[in-house]
Amino acid sequence: MSDLARQQADRVFYTWSAQASAVPLEIVGGEGARFTTADGARWWDLGSMVWNAPLGHGHPRMKAALAEAAARGLLVTPSAVFPDKARAAALLAEVTPPGLEKTFFCLSGAEANENAVKMARLVTGRNKIVARSRSYHGATLAMLSLSGDPRREPFEPGLPGVVRMGDPYCFRCPWGKEPASCAHECAGDLEVVLSREGPQTVAAVILEGIVGANGVFTPPPGYWRKIREICDRHGVLLIADEVLSGFGRTGRWFAVDHDGVTPDLMTMAKGITGGYAPGGAVIVTERIARHFDDHVLVCGLTSYAHPLVCAAMVAAIETLRDEGLVQRAAALEPRMRAGLRELARTRPAIAEARGLGLLWALELCVPGPGGVRGRDPLPASTMAKIAAALRRHHLHLHKRDNLIYLAPPLVIAEAELDEALGQLGRALDEGLS
Ligand SMILES: Cc1ncc(COP(=O)(O)O)c(C=O)c1O
Repeated sequence: MSDLARQQADRVFYTWSAQASAVPLEIVGGEGARFTTADGARWWDLGSMVWNAPLGHGHPRMKAALAEAAARGLLVTPSAVFPDKARAAALLAEVTPPGLEKTFFCLSGAEANENAVKMARLVTGRNKIVARSRSYHGATLAMLSLSGDPRREPFEPGLPGVVRMGDPYCFRCPWGKEPASCAHECAGDLEVVLSREGPQTVAAVILEGIVGANGVFTPPPGYWRKIREICDRHGVLLIADEVLSGFGRTGRWFAVDHDGVTPDLMTMAKGITGGYAPGGAVIVTERIARHFDDHVLVCGLTSYAHPLVCAAMVAAIETLRDEGLVQRAAALEPRMRAGLRELARTRPAIAEARGLGLLWALELCVPGPGGVRGRDPLPASTMAKIAAALRRHHLHLHKRDNLIYLAPPLVIAEAELDEALGQLGRALDEGLS
């Protein structure tokens, strides 16, 4: 550990870890899908930092946009009017599904979801929120309450009025269905939950575009259409949490675009600024926007639509659009799929490789006799060996339980992706040996 890392460890907390076992990463620079640490090592960023860097490291347009905004040095109040604020909202209306019109700005995904839930309660006058059994919506107390994530447990009892529905986790289908017999039971579960709770008591259902940190569950085609139809029939608002799955990550601007669905409220963060500034937003339909014409919007924050954040949003969205990076994620999907299937072919511990665009997960299980693929998760001790091997091979990617996630920046070149997957294969062999 360097002097700087030691000095920092005395004064600054690391997130989601016992402080003694945190693994510091002293990043000093980077370009595209690679970054460099203080010891001179060059890493592959296969996690896009925290799933929030679709434009990769050191993007010249982002550096220039932030430098210009910093040079302007504008101080604002939440009611301020300035060009980047109007432009960011116009761009969001342009790239989000048709019918989403008006934006509320904030600084993070958790805040975006907090405000979306508040708006849904204000509009409907109802209290309950339906969320998935496995989901993540942020680390604030209220959003952890909504999250179907073990990280919620130390903070129970949480927000009252949270109701759970089942997951589109096809590898371990909660209804025991195979793809051939699937009738979207996971989407139909919303109907069951609403009938049980009484739809007139439910303000909204909040669903990640694609469940991210809890396992990359790619729902069967038509899933979102069915959810939309159930919400419409019962007058329940639909909130799509596109914090992780948005801004091209899945090969479309937003995951709901795969099904052509417009939610009532959509939350965004992470890629919205390319990771170059802390940003988030809620965009809503005309109907919800109109409600607040003559009802108080009881939502706000000091750094609402901060000029540095708005400049980063404008630059990031324009860069994604002008460099065709959303289409690039879609174009790289077959290469990623083929590369991961090839890794799995000779490594029976990879029970499933699943994903869309450049958002993937490997589920690792104990192989059955004769090397057949198993279902029992690899033990924590083996996963710890794998994690150490990944670090030795300078691969930055997210790991959780028996899952390894792959989400490289959308700017990664074909040859770089091949090289990085080769490195992943070598690291897995070391960890599994
Ligand atoms: C789907 C989803 N929603 C919300 C959040 C929370 O975002 P933030 O950490 O910016 O508050 C995350 C973070 O990983 C996320 O994956």
